[in-house]
Amino acid sequence: PVVPPADLNNVQGDVVIGFAKKMETALFFQIDNVGGFRKQLGQLAPKITTAQQAASDRDSIKQHKQTGGTGLLKISGLNIAFSQSGLNKLGITDDIGDPAFKSGQLSVAQDLGDKGFNVNGTFTPDWIPAFKEAIHGIIIVSGDSQATVDERLNDTIRVLQLGPKGTCHEVLRLLGAVRPGDEKGHEHFGFLDGISNPAVEQIDTKPFPGQETVGQGIILLGRNKDTIKRPDWALDGSFLAFRYLFQLVPEFDDFVTRNAIPEQGPDFLGARLVGRWKSGAPLDLAPVKDDPALGADPQRNNNFKYAFPEDSQTQDRCPFAAHVRKTNPRNDLEGLGISTESRRIIRRGIAFGPEVNKAEQQQKTTLQGRGLLFRCYQSNIANGFQFIQESWANAPGFPPQKPEQPGFDAIIGQNKDDQSSRTITGVDPKAQTTSLQLPTDWVVPKGGEYFFSPSIPALKTKFAS
Ligand code: HEM
Repeated sequence: PVVPPADLNNVQGDVVIGFAKKMETALFFQIDNVGGFRKQLGQLAPKITTAQQAASDRDSIKQHKQTGGTGLLKISGLNIAFSQSGLNKLGITDDIGDPAFKSGQLSVAQDLGDKGFNVNGTFTPDWIPAFKEAIHGIIIVSGDSQATVDERLNDTIRVLQLGPKGTCHEVLRLLGAVRPGDEKGHEHFGFLDGISNPAVEQIDTKPFPGQETVGQGIILLGRNKDTIKRPDWALDGSFLAFRYLFQLVPEFDDFVTRNAIPEQGPDFLGARLVGRWKSGAPLDLAPVKDDPALGADPQRNNNFKYAFPEDSQTQDRCPFAAHVRKTNPRNDLEGLGISTESRRIIRRGIAFGPEVNKAEQQQKTTLQGRGLLFRCYQSNIANGFQFIQESWANAPGFPPQKPEQPGFDAIIGQNKDDQSSRTITGVDPKAQTTSLQLPTDWVVPKGGEYFFSPSIPALKTKFAS
């Protein structure tokens, strides 16, 4: 049968388009009363923020700014997604066609390289307890202020009858917030984030220069380039990989200060580890010094490929294992005739936790938890998030066919075989074969789960009653 093109009214807004947000709450829940939950979900479904709504919210914000409006427009977004154990609980037994989703993230934590303990031959990751229990679903609420988020979340809680003796109960609530002042849009190590996401065919029709367009089926199930056979109701859904990632910021700052490359400051080493300067300017375009105007300019800040063959055999401009080169190698693979399209993910993370305080700065030690509520969407978890983490970030030999071994992704790479050791080459452009020992715990995973974000029609018919 001919499948009509995806309608933005049918897709949840966090998947494509994305919410404009300053604050965000992720509420993880367990379902208790299946019949009651399905009934209440029927009430909630019309309130879910569609991609169409998210797009029109973005237009309103643009207009508000252009017409000199003051303050932030009151805008919020609401989405819901379910884990495999959630589907089981709801009695949805069709095989959705994603083994990683089916197994759940807890069972693959060791493969991802997360630290943990072996007890009687069974591995348990060093995660917070909530993520070691069955989580049935996640509610994501975003907004321009905490008050807006709370209002929308409280309405959702009321409609779903979430609470003691209700249809479901809360397991965990995580609060994210855009960082203050000039750090807006920067993750906690200080680097501008959210620059590079793929454009989705027929949805993001005006990509920025350098922004690659992927088939809809790379993100949405059942669409062009999704190669797996799916149940009909899975059409226009997407898999969400959630990761609760702590970042040790004073320790990171201390490391780049102590190991600063001769005649260069700590910021240069930081940029060599990430592949972009804190401003967002990519090393591939600004290899010698930061260029904040470039970093801030979406017309230019993603327009690079690691030129092939000129840059494929040298770390002059950017280390092979810099975070952004590892997680999107561009010409390092495409130059070899290997497509990266099926590896692309849409990232929607937000920072959590307070700013670094004086005592932490002085002691060069983290005293308060902070990091990234990482989440990304894809139609195939084994091709997307899991592949990037396991086969790229954690693989010292990747990218392939380089003159020296690249080493681990400096930010997120984990050494599953020897958790006490992580090395990288090429951070000093004048000594590219030299290997630098990196700390093993800058980014500490403390939990996560895989979820399925159903289309709006599926929510109304298959999930709700
Ligand atoms: C890009 C930081 C975790 C995949 C970036 C950028 C920063 C960053 C600063 C550059 C901004 C941009 O291009 O949008 C971090 C931090 C993390 C983290 C601090 C952990 C706390 C992850 C994880 C993955 C990932 C877990 C996937 C396994 C990517 C991808 C890009 C990216 C695909 C875009 C690369 C490109 O297209 O050039 N990250 N990240 N990141 N990150 Fe991460």
